[in-house]
Amino acid sequence: MVGGIIKDVGNISSNKTGSWRTFRPVVDKNKCIGCGTCKMFCPDVAIEIVDGKAIIDYDHCKGCLICKSVCPVGAISSEEEAK
Ligand code: F3S
Repeated sequence: MVGGIIKDVGNISSNKTGSWRTFRPVVDKNKCIGCGTCKMFCPDVAIEIVDGKAIIDYDHCKGCLICKSVCPVGAISSEEEAK
């Protein structure tokens, strides 16, 4: 029996899933305390904490906005994606 074979492990990074997005999360750097909660919950591993602030990788963020719902200080808002 032949199953699916992943020949190139880690190839998900080349799939720019951000093109699916309808709404994009936007981080208010003045409110962000760098707690990392958004990073922990992001199902696309599209958030990094850099210099104590959340940075969103828009190439891979699909716009699920889970980050917005879990941020304890309301630092993430959303806006409609420009077409
Ligand atoms: Fe900032 Fe994300 Fe926490 S936006 S405050 S690191 S949930």
